[in-house]
Amino acid sequence: MSYDSQIAQREIDVIIDELAKSSDVVGDVVEFGCYEGDTSVILAREMQDQPDKWLWLYDSFAGLPPKTAADQSAAGWRFKEGELKASPDQVAHKFKKYKLPDPVIKQAWFDELDPVADLPEKISFALLDGDFYESIKTSLALVAPKMQPGAKIIIHDYRNPQLPGSAKAVNEFLSANPELTFRLRAGLAIIDF
Ligand SMILES: C[S@@+](CC[C@H](N)C(=O)[O-])C[C@H]1O[C@@H](n2cnc3c(N)ncnc32)[C@H](O)[C@@H]1O
Repeated sequence: MSYDSQIAQREIDVIIDELAKSSDVVGDVVEFGCYEGDTSVILAREMQDQPDKWLWLYDSFAGLPPKTAADQSAAGWRFKEGELKASPDQVAHKFKKYKLPDPVIKQAWFDELDPVADLPEKISFALLDGDFYESIKTSLALVAPKMQPGAKIIIHDYRNPQLPGSAKAVNEFLSANPELTFRLRAGLAIIDF
């Protein structure tokens, strides 16, 4: 089965491998910035042997928020407010098409999510793909307290010169949490709990 994605194949391979490594960890799987659900269906397919876990997907479905100063980059001119619009129905339809279990889909700006009502209590694996500084910073703050021992966070675009806000948010988070292990694989930032 092949899927289209905003993420390169070498990155998908890493995501699948790290998700498998966290399969014995207690807690659900979350993706912040699911867009049309292409990486989401990859996560869901790999979770089929972990039927006790839910997949939670988050997106504004209104596209990207405004950039802040931390996101400015000549190379990233294509990433504009309102780009990458999708819909929850589009994502739900994709799951049906591939006969995958329904995910929990939350339509909201990340900074409007309630950590208790809108997120699972425990998380084993988080994929953060919100592109911009505030989006990555907010999603890190939401998921970090829920990550279980052995759990992993993967952050996209850490090495992407078009989206410098991603690395800035990750580096600030790591400075504030020096006990956590940080790795890079195929340009993806990986934080081990
Ligand atoms: C690059 S796309 C995600 C691509 C997807 N992970 C894939 O590989 O198919 C980034 C998504 O993040 C969402 N997003 C970015 N910042 C957000 C925020 N602060 N709140 C809600 N959604 C946000 C955008 O709407 C967009 O759909």
